[in-house]
Amino acid sequence: MSKLRVGLLFGGRSVEHEVSIASATSIHRALDPARYDVSLIGVDREGRWHLGPPGLPPEASVDGESVHLPVAGGARGLVSAETGDVAAAGKVDVIFPIVHGRGGEDGALQGLLEMAGVPYVGSGVLGSALQMDKEASKRLLRTAGLPVLDWVLVRSRELGREANAQAAAERALRDIGLPLFVKPANQGSSVGIHKVKAADELLPALRDAARYDAKILCERAVDAREIEVALLGNDPIEASVPGEIRTQREFYDYEAKYVDEDTELLVPAPLESTASEHVRDLAVRAMQALEGAGLGRVDFLLERGSGEFHINEVNSLPGFTDASMYPRLWEASGLPYPALLDRLIELALERQRECEVLETVYRRS
Ligand SMILES: Nc1ncnc2c1ncn2[C@@H]1O[C@H](COP(=O)(O)OP(=O)(O)O)[C@@H](O)[C@H]1O
Ligand SMILES: [Mg+2]
Repeated sequence: MSKLRVGLLFGGRSVEHEVSIASATSIHRALDPARYDVSLIGVDREGRWHLGPPGLPPEASVDGESVHLPVAGGARGLVSAETGDVAAAGKVDVIFPIVHGRGGEDGALQGLLEMAGVPYVGSGVLGSALQMDKEASKRLLRTAGLPVLDWVLVRSRELGREANAQAAAERALRDIGLPLFVKPANQGSSVGIHKVKAADELLPALRDAARYDAKILCERAVDAREIEVALLGNDPIEASVPGEIRTQREFYDYEAKYVDEDTELLVPAPLESTASEHVRDLAVRAMQALEGAGLGRVDFLLERGSGEFHINEVNSLPGFTDASMYPRLWEASGLPYPALLDRLIELALERQRECEVLETVYRRS
C-alpha cells in the first residue's frame, strides 16, 4: 500500500509560534515513516507558507520554498509561489494543522482547508471558532446546562469614552464582584489575563485586555484546582483520565506555562473515582456542545470550597509536544503518542468521507 502523504502545518502569526514549532517537532519525530510521507509546511510570522527542505527539522522550514494552497478544490497540493505548479513535496492527502491561536485554531485556517478540499485533523470551521471564543462558548455551554462561572461581557469600544468605561467597570463590579478575572475572549497562553482584587485595578486590566481583542470577559474568580481532560474522536468522543496542573504562582499565567520549572503536571490527577467519572462526562458533553471533532482538551476549575467543577475553557488545539498535557493524558489512558497520531489522522479521513456523501444538488426523493 502506498504511504499516506501528511502535511504537517505549523508556526503562524501568533504569540504561540514557538510552541507550535515545538509541537510540530514532536509530531514529526513520532509519525511512523513506514506509514507516512511527511511534508513540513512552516507558516512564518508574516503568515507566508514555506515547504520545508527534506531532511531538515521544522524550525528550518520557514526558509524553504514559498508555497500556497489553491482554494479551488481537487488539486490537493501546495503550489509553488514562483512557478504556480504543484511543488515536488507539495502533494498531500491530509493536513495536520498544529497552528495555535488566531488564524490557526479559530476556524480561519479550517475554512481555507475546506475550500481547498483537503482533509485535516481536528475540529471544523464552526467548532474551531466556537471553542476559540470564550464568550460564545460560555453561552453555549450554559445553554447546554453545563457548569460555567458567571461572567459579564465588556466590548473594547465601551472603553473609548471615560463615562462608558466607568459604566462597564461598575457593571462588572456589581454583577460579578471581586475578585474577578479579566480575559480577552479570543486569546491563549494567558496573554492579556488579569486577576483583579481591587476596584481601581479593573479599568487598567480591561484596557490591557482590549489590546488583544474587541470582546473582554469579566468572570468570577474562584479558588480552585485546575483539572484537564483530553478528548479524542468524532462520534463517539472519548475522554482520557483527568490530569491536574499545579503552579506556585497566583494563577496559571504565561510564565507558569512556559518559563517556570516548578509547574507540575499530575497525570492522572489525584481525584476520587466518582469525581473523575463526573469530570470526564462533563468534558465529553462540553466538546459536543461546541461542535468539536477529532481532538480537544477541556479545562476545569475545581472549586476548593464547594467541590464543584466549572468548565473554564475548551481548546480545539491543545499543546502537542510529547511533554504536553494532551498526549500525556492519552499515554496514561493506554494510547501512546505515535498511536494517538495514527488515530487523529484516521479521524480526519473519516470526517472527510462523511462530508463527501452529503448531497450537493437537490434531488426530489
Ligand atoms: N474564573 C477564574 N477563577 C480562577 N482562576 C482563573 C479563572 N479564570 C482563569 N483563571 C486562571 O487563569 C488561567 C488562564 O485562563 P484561561 O481562561 O484558561 O485562558 P487561556 O486561554 O489563556 O489559557 C487559568 O488556567 C487559571 O489559572
Ligand atoms: Mg487555559
